[in-house]
Amino acid sequence: MFNSKITGLGYYVPDNVVTNDDLSKKMDTNDAWIQERTGIKERRHVKKGDGDTTTTMGVKAAKIAIDRSGIDKNDIDFIVFATLSPDYYFPGPGVLVQRDLGIKTVGALDVRNQCSGFVYALSVADQYIKTGMYKNVLVIGSELHSHGLDMTTRGRGVSVIFGDGAGAAIVSREEDTTKGILSTHLHSEGQHAEELSLIAPGMGKRWVNDILVDNDPNDESYFPYMNGQFVFKNAVVRFSEVIIEGLKANNLEAKDIDMLVPHQANLRISQFIQKKFGLSDYQVFNNIMRYGNTTAASIPIALTEAWEMGKIKSGDLVVLAAFGSGFTWGSVIIRW
Ligand code: ACO
Repeated sequence: MFNSKITGLGYYVPDNVVTNDDLSKKMDTNDAWIQERTGIKERRHVKKGDGDTTTTMGVKAAKIAIDRSGIDKNDIDFIVFATLSPDYYFPGPGVLVQRDLGIKTVGALDVRNQCSGFVYALSVADQYIKTGMYKNVLVIGSELHSHGLDMTTRGRGVSVIFGDGAGAAIVSREEDTTKGILSTHLHSEGQHAEELSLIAPGMGKRWVNDILVDNDPNDESYFPYMNGQFVFKNAVVRFSEVIIEGLKANNLEAKDIDMLVPHQANLRISQFIQKKFGLSDYQVFNNIMRYGNTTAASIPIALTEAWEMGKIKSGDLVVLAAFGSGFTWGSVIIRW
C-alpha cells in the first residue's frame, strides 16, 4: 500500500499585468464593479508576440516543480495536463510537454475539466501511484485565456474575470500512508453543461463552416459564455458539499483544516466558504486579487504561493476544492 505525496510545486505567470483600469479602456466596466463583485484587482495576460502558450507556461512551471522535488526529469513516469485552453484543437498539450521537456516516451494524458481540472488531474495521478503503477507523475494546470476572450462590452461579464498562468506539481510515491493525499472526491452534473461553456470550436457546431467560412459577426459561440449568478449559486453549494464529503471520508472536521486552497473563481465565493466553515483569514488562501481566475492553473498557483510563503508545513491538513464548467467539482484532502 502506498500513498501519493506532492514533492515539488512551481508556477509561472506572464509579466504583463492588466489592471481593471486597463480593461475599462477597452469595454464599459470599472475598477469598483470588478473589485466589488469578484475581488479582482489585476490579472496577467500573455502579450501577443511574447511566445508564451498554454504549453510553454506549463513547461516553465513544471521545470520549477521538478527542480524542487529533487527528481530528474527522466524519473517522471507519466504526465497529466489540465486545461480548457490548449494550444491546438489536437493533439493536447500533454505530449507537447513531453517533447519540450525532452523526457522519455512516457504516457501523457489531457484532462478537460475546466476549473476542476487540477483537482481531477491530481486524482488521476493519485490513483496511478496508489495502485503502484507509477512512482512520479507530473501534473500541470495551465491556461491562456486572454487570446480567446471577447474584450468588448458584450463580453465584460466573463472577460474581466479570467487571467493567464500555469502551475505544476510532482506527485510521488509515499510509503507512509498517514501522509500525502488521503483521498480525492470528484463529481459532475452535465445537465448544466451549457451554463458555463465555449460552444465553438467544436464539431457539434461545425465551427469551420459555420463560423470561419460564414463568418457571422453576431455569432457569440466562439467566446466563453457564463450564466454568472446561476454558476455562483451552484458553486457555493457544491464547494461546501465536497469539502464536507472529503473531511467525513477521513473522520475529520472543519476545525482540523490548517489550509484551505479553493479554486480562485470569485473572492466572494471563497469568503462565503470561509464563513460557513468558521475558518480564519490565515486558513484560507486567496490570490484572485492578483491573478483573476486562471481556471485549471488557479489551485496549483495558489498552492505554490502558500507553500512558498511558509503557510503550509509538514503535518498540516491541506484541503483543495474546486467547482466549474461541466458542472464539475471536487476536493482533495492532503496530510502534508
Ligand atoms: N463591468 C460592469 N458591469 C458589468 C460587468 C462588468 N465587467 N459585467 C456585467 N455587468 C453588469 C451586467 O450587465 C448587469 O447589468 P444589468 O443589471 O443592467 O443587467 C449587472 O452588471 C449585474 O450582472 P450579473 O452578471 O448579474 O453580475 P453578478 O453579480 O452575478 O457578478 C460574476 C457576475 C462576477 C460573474 C458572478 O456571477 C460570478 O462570480 N459567478 C461565478 C463564477 C464562477 O464561479 N465560475 C466558475 C469557475 S469558471 C470555469 O469553470 C471556467
